[in-house]
Amino acid sequence: MKAALLYFTGTGVTAKYASELGKQFENLHVSVDLLRIKRGKKIDFSIYDIIGIGAPAYSIRAPRMVTRFLRKAKLEKKPLFVFCTSGGMPGNTLWNLFKATKRTGGICLGYTSAIGSTNLRSWMPPKNELKSNLSGLNNYDLSNAQKFAKTIITRFENLSSNLMQQNKNWIPSYSIGIVFWSLFFTWSWQMLFTVGIKRVDKSKCNHCRLCASKICSSGAISMNKNNTPSFNELLCVGCNGCVNLCPQDAIWTFQTRNHQQYDLYETYL
Ligand SMILES: Cc1cc2nc3c(=O)[nH]c(=O)nc-3n(C[C@H](O)[C@H](O)[C@H](O)COP(=O)(O)O)c2cc1C
Repeated sequence: MKAALLYFTGTGVTAKYASELGKQFENLHVSVDLLRIKRGKKIDFSIYDIIGIGAPAYSIRAPRMVTRFLRKAKLEKKPLFVFCTSGGMPGNTLWNLFKATKRTGGICLGYTSAIGSTNLRSWMPPKNELKSNLSGLNNYDLSNAQKFAKTIITRFENLSSNLMQQNKNWIPSYSIGIVFWSLFFTWSWQMLFTVGIKRVDKSKCNHCRLCASKICSSGAISMNKNNTPSFNELLCVGCNGCVNLCPQDAIWTFQTRNHQQYDLYETYL
């Protein structure tokens, strides 16, 4: 049995959760491919038996770049499950992920969410304080991953042996109120409070291109003729990746300039 764990991540929390889920599936003899969602990336899903889809909550919903990606992806009529990470208020994130896959006719076998510490750099402690010891995902969430993997496999096996009705879906709930809030929230929240307009400190940038090639999955960063990053604010989903993970701390915004970088999960990118 082969599973694809498809995830979007800004600073690596969802990537860490996806990799934990992946480990748990592998313990149950499922071979797993971890696939990071990137704008324009093409993936052949026909080789997978089951697909897991994960994203962080951004402004109480799944990032729009992710739902657009899923609507275009040829997921076929596959069994799937959805997962998300959040700072504690996921809103409609799981529902958005499920909904975006609905036209594929996939069967949703379950959903789960984990609470990470928030990746908002503007909420991190000030730069002059000691580097904070952020715990990220807690042990409860990590052990929950094990139970979740077992449940999904049981449901999958029941599906293929027809013990379960084919139209049985475990569908995440949603709130119509949150739909309206998130319409208002996304841009104002992202631009005014959390990340803001990104700028580059040219004296610090060492032209490594990491931000454009690896960190940003929204295709919002390109290198200009001076080989320094430039930003397309319309494509940016405000994930905080570039301001948090630039190795030189050269990318800054008004909101983040006095705060520590949140770089716990750089190894997952
Ligand atoms: C622009 C933005 C908006 C966010 N909005 C929410 C939110 O509405 N509710 C919440 O619980 N967490 C929110 N968060 C926190 C993230 O969901 C959380 O830190 C997540 O684990 C980050 O995962 P990642 O590192 O994979 O991007 C937000 C983070 C960002 C950057």
